[in-house]
Amino acid sequence: MHKNIAVIPGDGIGPEVTAQAVRVLNAIAHQYGHQFYYNSALMGADAIDKTGNPLPDETIRICAESDAILFGAIGHPKYDNDPTAKVRPEQGLLKLRKSLGLFANIRPVKTYSSLYHLSPLKANALDAVDFVIFRELTGGIYFGKKELSADGTTAIDECTYNVTEIERVSELAFQFAMNRRKKLTLVDKANVLETSRLWRRCVQQIATKYPEVQVDYMFVDNAAMQIILNPKQFDVVLTENMFGDIISDEASVLAGSLGLLPSASIGGKALFEPIHGSYPQAAGKDIANPVGSILSVALMLEYFGLQNEAKAVKDAVDWTLQNGFVTKDIDPVNFYFTSTIGELIADHIMNKKPEGVNKANIELRKSTII
Ligand code: IPM
Ligand code: MN
Repeated sequence: MHKNIAVIPGDGIGPEVTAQAVRVLNAIAHQYGHQFYYNSALMGADAIDKTGNPLPDETIRICAESDAILFGAIGHPKYDNDPTAKVRPEQGLLKLRKSLGLFANIRPVKTYSSLYHLSPLKANALDAVDFVIFRELTGGIYFGKKELSADGTTAIDECTYNVTEIERVSELAFQFAMNRRKKLTLVDKANVLETSRLWRRCVQQIATKYPEVQVDYMFVDNAAMQIILNPKQFDVVLTENMFGDIISDEASVLAGSLGLLPSASIGGKALFEPIHGSYPQAAGKDIANPVGSILSVALMLEYFGLQNEAKAVKDAVDWTLQNGFVTKDIDPVNFYFTSTIGELIADHIMNKKPEGVNKANIELRKSTII
């Protein structure tokens, strides 16, 4: 298979984790006889520094011409702490999502028994947790009218949804549920928000086409509690843009680290990115967790229809986690570097286990804080 992949490393730890994800793609290409061609592009603070624009036209063009996009992370503290900044890195990602019509963001959440100890939850609450958040990605408050009054004392962010925006992501979520445990939970705030009531009406109507899918409706405040209290009740969680942003970070504590979660954004194109941010404190230190980015590659391979290849990536990740090959976010004392984890996962895909390759070398690269 031949595929053109746009690669946007972005900010902070983005370039480091993306480099490992590309290494894993190369291992897949090598092992299964595929050709992946990469085109790199700028976005975020990196793009502002180099071009003055968080999303240069060239980046939109490269993405539009690609079969899929691999993206790292976005954001820089110098903008976070300056509420008056006119140009912000995040504008680049939001504009890219909108320009490419990436209306559905899919965030799978699962737990690993070897990492239960990292979660603040008890092991029995984590067993068999396996759900997927469908977050609407190009509407709602993120894209509504924004205003600051002339005297600077009043601000407005408008939240708008129309039926088309709600239906297209909901249809996808129902289809997804049909291939899973056939349960869908709409998370909203229909007791307060008009947009949420429109979501309920649309989802109730679509539900009639999928009689096998059990549909639940849950207010977002309750959902935030249920995700911690009883996460295994969820299968497909469908929600609007901002609620999805918030509950997906919350859900990542079930897995043990924000660094483990991948995501796929689909619609006009398909973009794959870890859900974590740019983590500037770790940038350049080779300590970030590349697993979220590597599992995003698994989602990309599934999107290409390469199920076996995707499974090989997921199996390799499972193998590293089960054998204690983890980054500093998971084990702050005995940890491996970002690049070592990428190498181990790539080697596992190419059937090279570290025992046979270079165990001593790997041990040397392990960092131990005494
Ligand atoms: C995410 C991020 C983005 C979002 C930011 C960086 C704009 O938090 O992908 O979850 O809020 O959508
Ligand atoms: Mn987020």
